Amino acid sequence: MNTTDYIDYKAVKKLKIYEGKVLIRPLTKNDLTQTIKWLKDPEVNKFLANDFSDLTLEEELNWLKEMNSSLIDFIFAIDDRKLKKYIGNCGMHKVDWENKTCEFGIVIGDKNYWEKKFGSDTINAIIRFAFCKLNLLKIKLFVYEYNTRAINAYKKCGFIIKETLIKDHLYENFYWNTLVMEIKRE
Ligand SMILES: CC(C)(COP(=O)(O)OP(=O)(O)OC[C@H]1O[C@@H](n2cnc3c(N)ncnc32)[C@H](O)[C@@H]1OP(=O)(O)O)[C@@H](O)C(=O)NCCC(=O)NCCS
Repeated sequence: MNTTDYIDYKAVKKLKIYEGKVLIRPLTKNDLTQTIKWLKDPEVNKFLANDFSDLTLEEELNWLKEMNSSLIDFIFAIDDRKLKKYIGNCGMHKVDWENKTCEFGIVIGDKNYWEKKFGSDTINAIIRFAFCKLNLLKIKLFVYEYNTRAINAYKKCGFIIKETLIKDHLYENFYWNTLVMEIKRE
């Protein structure tokens, strides 16, 4: 049997996960106009790996299609559970089924929701999903050293700093370190 034979991809991608103040649900086409606005916001984008200033709805629709059919990417929308309000996206990428690892990404695009634990609740939900539903053993992520809020949220959820990539990220004419963080299933 293949390592992934037991995964029902369609079912897993349609999951709804409740954790604290958030509901993690499938990302839909209707979310994408809002997603693009967030990704283009310089105050949000400075923390992300890609420059999305030229991103179009057509590109984003293609990306969603690609993600939905991918066997190594699992993406979700984040809602404020109480108000049923869309506040951001999260996902696991580059799932390596052989080595049982993946890379985690998160963006709470609605800045009114920063520093109110919606991020930590989401991170905890994804850890549970990756370890219990996908049966992975390790989650890895990359974070810029100036993103102290994210680093604190990751540490709070159990991630540790594994490696520092020295001065590898250019932002505002200055090279910054990138931290590689990870969490292992106990
Ligand atoms: C990073 C992100 C997911 C964190 O989620 P959040 O809901 O804002 O954070 P939380 O409230 O869950 O936790 C933040 C922790 O950092 C601390 N913190 C808050 N603001 C901080 C700041 N400006 N600097 C340092 N630490 C800060 C808080 O004390 C909190 O810890 P505590 O609960 O023990 O008090 C969210 O802010 C976000 O999506 N930001 C924009 C995109 C981004 O940075 N993505 C990650 C890329 S690697």
